[in-house]
Amino acid sequence: MGLPIVEDAPQMPETQPHDEEKVVIAKNLAAVKRKVGIHSGKGGVGKTFLSVNIAMALAAAGKSVGLLDADVDCPNVAKFLNLRDVPLNGTADGRIFPLEYKGMKLVSTHFMTDNPSLPMIVRGPIKHKVVAEMLEKVEWGELDVLVYDLPPGTSDVPMSSMMIGSMDGIVIVTTPQQEAIMDARKSAIMAKDMDVPVLGVVENMSGDVFGTGSGEELARELDVPFLGTIPLTKEIRQLNEKGKAVLCTKTYQDTAQKILKGVTGETLAMKQSFWRNLVNR
Ligand SMILES: Nc1ncnc2c1ncn2[C@@H]1O[C@H](COP(=O)(O)OP(=O)(O)OP(=O)(O)O)[C@@H](O)[C@H]1O
Ligand SMILES: [Mg+2]
Repeated sequence: MGLPIVEDAPQMPETQPHDEEKVVIAKNLAAVKRKVGIHSGKGGVGKTFLSVNIAMALAAAGKSVGLLDADVDCPNVAKFLNLRDVPLNGTADGRIFPLEYKGMKLVSTHFMTDNPSLPMIVRGPIKHKVVAEMLEKVEWGELDVLVYDLPPGTSDVPMSSMMIGSMDGIVIVTTPQQEAIMDARKSAIMAKDMDVPVLGVVENMSGDVFGTGSGEELARELDVPFLGTIPLTKEIRQLNEKGKAVLCTKTYQDTAQKILKGVTGETLAMKQSFWRNLVNR
């Protein structure tokens, strides 16, 4: 039997971004040295956790960092950082200033709506437009790294971000279960299709509950670096809930360095004082 549901599905209107859009974005991001997306086809595997922690660890290593919350309709970056609901400032001609926090520049739809508790109920083309605006109209300025916290899936926002976001690569995060690996593999195939390099794979929520090792196997299969294993623990959940930097703790120092090497290509040392600040505040 074929797949009649797929074959008979009505075609959505084309949302192919224009080359013009890419040119404007490339110009706006001209002073951003490196642009890296954190992705997986699967939801709930720790993309936001990793994005926020990579940004904090980069800041702790003295890098200038931007964090673009590309999860347009369910943004979580503000919650992960325990930030108050402050609106972003802008100019009359539509330029947007990112929120500055602990050496990071942040942009999220969380700070762009009147009431962040209410759902944003929109279709794909609108999400594309919002992501394009975050890339085109935000004053990112000079940055060493811009991290994109991508939503799950292989269409809409991840697709738009890979097509127009002039990314240097993506880091794939997966949990060890086979269904998560299957969706992470789709993320890698999608990136290849879009000419975006895969910089490496991180296995998150590793351990007794979900198993261990399939993230590393996936990295081997894809022939990309395996960047490390982060266990599923109560301590990590609690640090996340308090907006603290898990990857800046001593326990995850080696893992953090390996992940940052995957993201930047450089070996970085995080400043002890900065860790204390981000872990204990
Ligand atoms: N290693 C871990 N140990 C314990 N809890 C974790 C760990 N990693 C992530 N979490 C928790 O799991 C939940 C899901 O993580 P997160 O929101 O980062 O996933 P996501 O992939 O971004 O989800 P979505 O697909 O909805 O964007 C969060 O509550 C987070 O605090
Ligand atoms: Mg998320």
